[in-house]
Amino acid sequence: MSYRDLRAFLGSLGDDVLHVAAPLQAQHEIAALLREVAPTGRVVLCENVMGHPGIRIAGNLLASRHLAARALGVDADRLFEAYAERGAGRIAPIKASEVPVQDVVHREPADVGALLPLLTHHADDGAPFLTCGMVLARDPVTGMRGMGVHRMMYKGGRRFGILLANPPLSLFLGNAERDGKPLEVAIALGVDPAMLLASIVKTGPQGPDKMDVAGSLRGAPVELASALSVDLDIPARAEVIIEGRVLPGVREPEGPFGENTGAYFTNQSPVIEVSAVTHRRDFIFPALVPWTADVDTLLALAGGAELLRQLQAQVRGVVDLELVPGTSSFAAVIAVRDCPRHEVRRLIHLALNLDRRLKVLTVVDDDVDPRNPREVAWAMSTRFQPARDTIIVDGCEGYIIDPSSSGSTGSKIGFVATRAAGRQFDKIGLPPAAVAKARAVLAELGCVSG
Ligand SMILES: Cc1cc2nc3c(=O)[nH]c(=O)nc-3n(C[C@H](O)[C@H](O)[C@H](O)COP(=O)(O)O)c2cc1C
Repeated sequence: MSYRDLRAFLGSLGDDVLHVAAPLQAQHEIAALLREVAPTGRVVLCENVMGHPGIRIAGNLLASRHLAARALGVDADRLFEAYAERGAGRIAPIKASEVPVQDVVHREPADVGALLPLLTHHADDGAPFLTCGMVLARDPVTGMRGMGVHRMMYKGGRRFGILLANPPLSLFLGNAERDGKPLEVAIALGVDPAMLLASIVKTGPQGPDKMDVAGSLRGAPVELASALSVDLDIPARAEVIIEGRVLPGVREPEGPFGENTGAYFTNQSPVIEVSAVTHRRDFIFPALVPWTADVDTLLALAGGAELLRQLQAQVRGVVDLELVPGTSSFAAVIAVRDCPRHEVRRLIHLALNLDRRLKVLTVVDDDVDPRNPREVAWAMSTRFQPARDTIIVDGCEGYIIDPSSSGSTGSKIGFVATRAAGRQFDKIGLPPAAVAKARAVLAELGCVSG
């Protein structure tokens, strides 16, 4: 089952959507509400945004793996498998027969902040930020299309700062600036979650067009149309499009902003001058609150599933990988089966080098659930010897939003928490028949065990 657009996805969710009619301000109040609801794994639709009558804000769209499975139209227990299968496929985009996102057109708008409910997320954020804009551009050298999610700081009027720390868009800007030219961009807001997911998939320099990946993830081609003031294709069924140019050679302070790391971050960043805003008549504006389960889900699929695939191709016995929630994918736990300890050490070196962000890696046996912090801590306490089982790699590229390395060099660490030979490493257990009887007795009493 695929969803043609964000509305179709929201319409399919039924009780998974919490409708909020109370008036809420775009400054802090909506982010606070979304953060409170996030642990319940429900989507929120704010229907009364103060100062923006008729506009709704949808948030927590991927606040649980259950929602991510619904976005891909699969059962939750098949989420990662389905993601891997679909992510490897390609479905090319098609030309749209209708373009609802251009129902209303504002050319060179004087005040983008008056048109759109731009959210301020945290107490010390320097301004409102866009956190889930899918930024589209073309490489001025090759003409190749690229897209990614890039945070954007509203600077007033029709200017935004943009953090371009990741390829391919950071490379496209470098190529444009070498000729002293601006980089044309279109920012799609309110796309269906499978398309948002595709925009952050790691495809590498020679990788496929992410629109083809998006088509395959959604199970239907993306419908594209021409933007109005830049030479780019845009998803016709998005809710809002911001068109503009990244100004060559310009860097200005951007931030502070409460990042996906859970810490504030400031940068000298490029600046976009907006040339047009287009939107549906009664548009739904998307929200993604940093450092919440939404971000964990996006990273677990686009980053974690890909890293697991790469590692499984190179090391025998790798069975599972969990990016630790709340760490912006800086920490992970890998489970292995029958993997000798020298292979585990090789695995740690490989993983830490393959993924720029990964900084703290723990490897456990597959009798430990990598998603259960109690079990991982147990493996660290009983199977791990600090002097023998710690690997430190120094002189690595620090990830820009990691406050501990501030974008300069950093180090990485791996822990071998797998069992050495010998029975003393076995987890205690009970005879299965005794467990089954205990559960039957408790079920009779109406008492849920576990
Ligand atoms: C929620 C979220 C926010 C992101 N924000 C930014 C950002 O502000 N700037 C940036 O350069 N990349 C950002 N990224 C990463 C890119 O969108 C994208 O993941 C990256 O280009 C993929 O390539 P990589 O493997 O080089 O990271 C963000 C990713 C996610 C999931």
